[in-house]
Amino acid sequence: MQVTLIVALVLHILSGVFWAGTTFVLARTGGSQADRFFRPQMGAATMAVVTGGLLWYLLHRGGSGTQEHILAVGALCALIAAGVQASSAQALRKLSAVGGSDEFRPSHRVATSQRIAAALLGITVVCMAAARYA
Ligand code: HEM
Repeated sequence: MQVTLIVALVLHILSGVFWAGTTFVLARTGGSQADRFFRPQMGAATMAVVTGGLLWYLLHRGGSGTQEHILAVGALCALIAAGVQASSAQALRKLSAVGGSDEFRPSHRVATSQRIAAALLGITVVCMAAARYA
């Protein structure tokens, strides 16, 4: 139980840090090289959501207090962020097909989706960090 909890928390934080961190960078650079990050970001998002669900099961199953409300807001923002990023998959595929992002600027759509996802993941990080002490 304790080992499962520690492993889940470490994987959750590692994947969350990678996902949010790369999203913040891509939001700042207007989505430059976003095509290279798409798969790792979606992989990290999947890992963060799955381990987050496991942590919820282990620590907050059946709970409906302030902590759970704050965590739920953070989780919802993370899920929307994943959807927003996934929705630019087609634009990123086109970008890769025309020769890679070194020579071609990412589309406005890709840059906007990274900015929206960054704002949402910012809320997620605040909620996740604050929930324990609420
Ligand atoms: C659907 C998505 C997510 C769910 C369901 C979820 C759920 C949870 C749960 C249940 C915990 C344990 C809270 C506790 O210790 O009582 C937690 C902790 C944490 N989560 Fe998430 N999470 C999600 C996404 C994310 C993302 C995307 C990030 C980072 C960007 C993140 C960062 C963290 C951090 C840093 C902690 C540790 C907080 C602490 O130990 O004080 N989570 N999460």
